[in-house]
Amino acid sequence: MADHDPGRREWLLQSLALAGAAAAGVAPRLVHAGEPAMGVPDAHRAQDRTLTRIAFGSCAKESKEQPIWEAILARKPELFLFLGDNIYGDTRDMGLLRDKYGQLAAKPGFQKLKATTPIVSVWDDHDFGENDAGSDYPMKEQSRQIFLDFWEEPERSPRRARDGVYASWVFGPRGRRVQVIMPDLRYNRTPILSTDLAGAKYEDWARQKAEAGLQVPGPYARNPAQDATMLGERQWRWLEAQLRVPAEIRIIASSLQVLADPPGWEAWINYARDHQRLVQLLRQTSARGVIFISGDTHYAELSHLDVNVPYPLWDLTSSGLTEVWPVVPPNANRVGEVLREPNFGWIQIDWSGRDPRVVLQVCDIDGKTRLEQELKRSLLA
Ligand SMILES: [Fe+2]
Repeated sequence: MADHDPGRREWLLQSLALAGAAAAGVAPRLVHAGEPAMGVPDAHRAQDRTLTRIAFGSCAKESKEQPIWEAILARKPELFLFLGDNIYGDTRDMGLLRDKYGQLAAKPGFQKLKATTPIVSVWDDHDFGENDAGSDYPMKEQSRQIFLDFWEEPERSPRRARDGVYASWVFGPRGRRVQVIMPDLRYNRTPILSTDLAGAKYEDWARQKAEAGLQVPGPYARNPAQDATMLGERQWRWLEAQLRVPAEIRIIASSLQVLADPPGWEAWINYARDHQRLVQLLRQTSARGVIFISGDTHYAELSHLDVNVPYPLWDLTSSGLTEVWPVVPPNANRVGEVLREPNFGWIQIDWSGRDPRVVLQVCDIDGKTRLEQELKRSLLA
């Protein structure tokens, strides 16, 4: 892949256009006013580090003990990714939301993590503010400010000017670059569509299915509308620009599952057009080395898709750091077992050979590996 800097190129083109317009005596006009840096990754204090050990997790209830941090810290991660539901805010009271972040900040394990390990974070519904909420959550802008303050986003960071908390960083030197992309699946999201249960309550419907020995999907349906979206147009343009940023491995860290199918609980598959658009964008941008990771579900599993995709896609779901779900919903793209215990995700990268090797794992509260999949970088192309 050609090594270029699209953000700088865009800036140069705009500068040339402005100079040309000024010379011609016409008022200059910016094509994307206020968005000159869409193709520039965000700055991170650890960005020069070559990453070989990355940990991630989601769904941590601040009112519970969080013993899993000991197992995570024992593996000495070089980066930790919070994939959302990092607290269970579930409120429109911003004082309460701040208090709950304060409870997370007071956890001894979290404090040790913060003192030893670089962190990046995105939110899901509960830390955004409400269960399964989207663009219609009325406190989203106040909640965004509280999120950015808590995760110590610098005052002048471009991330503070976005319509959501989405961000992207590139770690490591050329030849060993890991890009971490965190989309925001809440701020601009069309409200979720419920399955038509013919007037039945979901709980009764689910119980009947379980009693009949059937799998129990969640209460949501696929939304076929052309304008139903997870990201919103501006974030889509940003994501396209980010996928053109040079990197050897790209971790797309999504708060919701990317490859799980069918819909039921919230996932990318519920937004039919956006789901296809994501795959199409990988094709269009020739973005190689993409691995999806996700959270939200309260169980861990690996999903795999190898039809109608530019190359085999993988989605490692780890959830939760404290939360566990009582049943296993269907997933046609699941590979192997489901883990229904507190867990965290682990990504090990071996850069030593000509073809970098990536090992994806889900680990339990004792740090033991419970799910594992090895990938070769050359196959993600
Ligand atoms: Fe969630």
